[in-house]
Amino acid sequence: MGLWSKKNLDQLMRESEGTGDTVTLKRTLGAMNLTLLGIGAIIGAGIFVLTGTAAAQYAGPAIVLSFVLAGFGCLFAGLCYAEFASMIPIAGSAYTYGYATLGELIAWIIGWDLILEYLFAASTVAVGWSANVVAFLKDFMGIELPAALTSAPLVADKATGAITATGAIINLPAVLLIGVLTTMLVIGIQESARLNNLIVFVKVAIVFLVIGFGFMYVTPSNWVPFIPENTGTFGEYGWSGIVRASGVIFFAYIGFDAVSTAAQEAKNPQRDLPIGILASLAVCTVLYILMALVMTGVAHYSELNVANPVYVTIAKAGPALAWLKALVGIGTIAGLASVVLVMLLGQPRIFLAMSRDGLLPPVFGRVHPRFQTPYLATIITGVVAGVIAGAFPIDILGELVSIGTLLAFVIVSAGVLVLRYRSPNLHRPFRTPFVPVVPVLAILICGYMMSGLPADTWLRLLIWLALGLAIYFFYGRHHSKVAREEREAR
Ligand code: ALA
Repeated sequence: MGLWSKKNLDQLMRESEGTGDTVTLKRTLGAMNLTLLGIGAIIGAGIFVLTGTAAAQYAGPAIVLSFVLAGFGCLFAGLCYAEFASMIPIAGSAYTYGYATLGELIAWIIGWDLILEYLFAASTVAVGWSANVVAFLKDFMGIELPAALTSAPLVADKATGAITATGAIINLPAVLLIGVLTTMLVIGIQESARLNNLIVFVKVAIVFLVIGFGFMYVTPSNWVPFIPENTGTFGEYGWSGIVRASGVIFFAYIGFDAVSTAAQEAKNPQRDLPIGILASLAVCTVLYILMALVMTGVAHYSELNVANPVYVTIAKAGPALAWLKALVGIGTIAGLASVVLVMLLGQPRIFLAMSRDGLLPPVFGRVHPRFQTPYLATIITGVVAGVIAGAFPIDILGELVSIGTLLAFVIVSAGVLVLRYRSPNLHRPFRTPFVPVVPVLAILICGYMMSGLPADTWLRLLIWLALGLAIYFFYGRHHSKVAREEREAR
């Protein structure tokens, strides 16, 4: 019992409308803001950093096809998210969808898993941001920050996976970024959304400039052969390289589902959440494919194995595009900051939902009387994300984020199938098309990408989930409101 308790949909609807004794969040976001929120979360370290390394090491120019493959996985999962987001527009996102369909235990597992997607992603991208700031200060201003204060004190040994010390003290810029953004989020979501809109505008403008000007400097022979021959090792070019690269650049698509975490701050969530999710995903997919074409067309893919491949692409185009170099540097820095912002915004809203259900202690659910933000959960998120960003390198974090997110996508897509079967007649303002084909494809493609991630990453995921289960059995299970109501009703 208890473990499989489900939240009643009517009750969820009432909660989303904010009836009851809880202080509610402020509804200020429209379709445009939500789409920009999505784009703000999506375009970041994935396209600005990982595209280059994945093209150089795994796929060559066929990285374009990796973007298509990962894009399909995300599109199908996005269509499933859109159905749930329109039906159950509650801040908890996939956690809440799980609670309504698959029961409390699975809901808890998703909620715990989403910490990997949001909190850890905030740390991951903050680490990428720090590296870009360091490079920018050095290249454009001649300022060299000490490595001991700008890099991770801990790394994982590639061969054994063991964590060892590097001698560095802390990644200070990453910690400072998280501190500033957390403070902004405590003060107000509307202000944060406004800043986000501005940054998204800058970041998309830069992407357009790179694509538009870059195409003029393409050397078509760089695209030949489009799919470099496999070296004989799985994942090094050829078809297996395309698949492995798609697992790596999947990170670039993460974030469209962050739109669903702002459900209770949306003015018209049932209409606008599906728009926000699908529009942001569509825009980014097109931009990514064009960007990948430009990068591998202007520079040879073997030249892109660097932390700032977009910058290298522009430099390769020659002096005519020199003016764009500084813009790309600034755009990358601002763009990555906005990803961190949206991730730090999503996490506390998931905590809030879990705390209101009793699965987390009440402090996570406190809403500030004046700012109307979940301020304590925001501060806790910021502190933990800051500590992680200060201590760990980008590769360990990035792979954990990818595997965690893929798992969430798989469970959400399964949830759509279950609910269609169990409650076919519920009102669904947005319906996933071609059920069961779309959810099944989402599960298969995302599962396929998960299977390509390294064994160490799987192990870390399992340890994380085991920790989560321990917390559930010691705390959540005994404090669950749904289970208590069920007991009282008997
Ligand atoms: N999609 C986000 C990024 O690329 C997480 O940084």
